[in-house]
Amino acid sequence: MTTNGTHPIASELKIRTLEADDANRALELSRAEGWLQNARDWENLIRWSEGGAYGIEDGNTLVAVGVCCSWGNTRGRLANIITHRDYRHRGLAKVIIQTLMRTLQKRGVSVIDLDANEDVSKMYAPYGFVATHDVDLYMGTPKTAVPVLKPNGTEADIDAIINLDTQIFGAPRPLVIRDLVHGPDAKIWVDREEEQLNGYLITHRHDSFIKVGPWVHHDPTQARAMLEGVASYYQGAKIRVDTISANPHAVSIVKDLGLECFRQCQNMVLTSGGKPPLRAQAYFGIVAPTVG
Ligand SMILES: CC(C)(COP(=O)(O)OP(=O)(O)OC[C@H]1O[C@@H](n2cnc3c(N)ncnc32)[C@H](O)[C@@H]1OP(=O)(O)O)[C@@H](O)C(=O)NCCC(=O)NCCS
Repeated sequence: MTTNGTHPIASELKIRTLEADDANRALELSRAEGWLQNARDWENLIRWSEGGAYGIEDGNTLVAVGVCCSWGNTRGRLANIITHRDYRHRGLAKVIIQTLMRTLQKRGVSVIDLDANEDVSKMYAPYGFVATHDVDLYMGTPKTAVPVLKPNGTEADIDAIINLDTQIFGAPRPLVIRDLVHGPDAKIWVDREEEQLNGYLITHRHDSFIKVGPWVHHDPTQARAMLEGVASYYQGAKIRVDTISANPHAVSIVKDLGLECFRQCQNMVLTSGGKPPLRAQAYFGIVAPTVG
């Protein structure tokens, strides 16, 4: 790597793929931005990327990172693009984004999306990304008086959950779902009618809060009942739910529980590939802005 546009880049900067044991160094970059990710989130993301996580190093210092994931060879996603503050405006993010786009193109991915920090969304416009819906991250200690809903999902539900996630998210993410249900203190709620799975919700324990997501249901009334019962189960604990504005029911449910939006992102899609087949009306809580 030598030059990029008008910004000279030092010849000692090298780009390479990131492995799981780079998680802690990548974490330093996301922590510096105040993002609520931990080492496990990075390890998962690097594994889910299947060789699509990249970092630029200056000697032994990781100074820029970015990750892409693909599902079912048609749908791809960019995530966690960060440049160390001392290295900004020298074209490093551009190099990372171009590398991620090439990786996804080689995999034959036609639809690519991402959840951009609102103030940075313009950075993606030159690639053809256009804004779709908002992604709002909510956190708080819910106020609820409804009866506790105990986790009722088991290992035996995982295949049905993966199938429903594929229908609603619009692409198969078995690796993501399996890692989430085996996460720290993970719990599963399912709403089943005989063999039919109508909805599900997964939680896991994060550093200082309970992360909810995915939270999926075909029926908004049942989706509300599910989250309220889960909130009662976690009485007194802080919970986090990441919603999409394309599902206004989800936004009102979390607001009614007293959760507050602490960060806003903008979902953007590369239009040349068409729209992701997301069924937003049943997608109440996403996994995270990293993987949608
Ligand atoms: C956004 C960020 C990754 C840019 O990194 P960088 O290495 O300084 O970016 P580059 O120098 O490669 O700039 C690439 C292009 O994006 C543009 N750009 C850079 N930062 C931008 C910003 N904050 N908003 C809008 N455009 C931006 C540049 O003008 C440049 O365009 P050009 O080629 O036409 O000059 C960096 O500021 C950062 O890490 N921010 C905090 C984390 C973050 O918000 N990441 C994005 C998550 S969606």
